[in-house]
Parts: sequence; structure tokens; C-alpha cells
Amino acid sequence: MKANILFIALLLFFSSCSKHDGSDKQAAKNDSTNVADSSSTPTSIEVIKTLTYEQREGKFFYTKYCLVCHGSEGKGDGFNAFNLNPRPKDFTEKQYMQALTDEKLIETVSQGGRGVNKSPSMPSWGGRLSKDEILYVVAYVRTFAADTTNHK
Ligand code: HEC
Repeated sequence: MKANILFIALLLFFSSCSKHDGSDKQAAKNDSTNVADSSSTPTSIEVIKTLTYEQREGKFFYTKYCLVCHGSEGKGDGFNAFNLNPRPKDFTEKQYMQALTDEKLIETVSQGGRGVNKSPSMPSWGGRLSKDEILYVVAYVRTFAADTTNHK
């Protein structure tokens, strides 16, 4: 009797193992078909390659410090943006962004809104980010309105 129960338990164990294996293989198969299907859309790794080293560094800081207000697409719609008046501008607006020089963007990020007669709710980052890091984050902010660089 004991042996029978053991046998059934083992049987259940193995059958669940093989089921598990099967579904894994199925999942792997699905994955590979998905990759094949989406050959026209680059995978995320390929997209990251389209950013320069500076832009990728900038993306790191942007995601950490700026995204809450400026949004993941730079549209000024981060989850904290709705508390802000005025709201941050849309970084994807080409005309608006082209009118802003790199110097102006660097100055705004370093000194914050208060330093450049803009809203004081734009914090100053000169104390937290190094000069290079500010250049990187501005390089990344520029990708939102660029045709050639995928900001993802
Ligand atoms: C607490 C919210 C908040 C955070 C965090 C924040 N910003 Fe801002 N930012 C603003 C607001 C609000 C403005 C709009 C100021 C205005 O138009 O008067 C702004 C404006 C700017 C501008 C100027 C754009 C223009 O219209 O001239 C730049 C560039 C900018 N932010 C970059 C950044 C970067 C880079 C970071 C991260 C390092 C960051 N911001 C973090 C709220 C924020």
C-alpha cells in the first residue's frame, strides 16, 4: 500500500515535470516565432544601439531624475506633471526645441527654472549632476525631437 502511494506520487511528480518541460518548449518556440515575425521592428537591444554613448548615459539620468515630470516620451506628461503649473513643455515639438540653444538647455538644467526666469518647479541639477552628466542628459533630451535618433 505504501509502495503504491509512493509510486503514484512519483508518477504525478514526473508527469508534472514533463508537462512543465513541454510548456517551456512551447514558450520558447513562441518567442522565436515572435522575433522572426517582428523582423521589421528592431528588438530593444538594436534600438539602444542607435543612441550614442552620451545619449545612453543621458537616458540613465533622465529616467532617474527627469521622467517623473517630463515623461518617458519627453512630452511633459510625467506622472508628477499634473501637479505643475506651468507644465513642462513638449520636448518632441521640433520648432520649440530648435529655438532653444544647447547652451540655454544646459543652463536651464544646471540652474533650474529659477536661474533662467522659468518656473521654479524645474529644479536645478548643477549640484547633483556633473558637467558631463548634464551634457549627456541634454544630448538625450535632444533625441525626443530628432528624426534620426530613436530615443528608446
Ligand atoms: C519636479 C518636476 C521636474 C523635474 C524633476 C525636472 N523638470 Fe525640467 N522642467 C520642469 C518644469 C515645470 C519646466 C517648465 C518651466 C517653464 O516653462 O517655466 C521644466 C523645464 C525644463 C527645461 C527647459 C525647457 C524649456 O521650455 O525651456 C529643460 C531643458 C528641462 N526642464 C530639463 C530637465 C531635466 C534634464 C531634468 C532632469 C535632470 C528635469 N528637467 C527635471 C519640471 C521638472
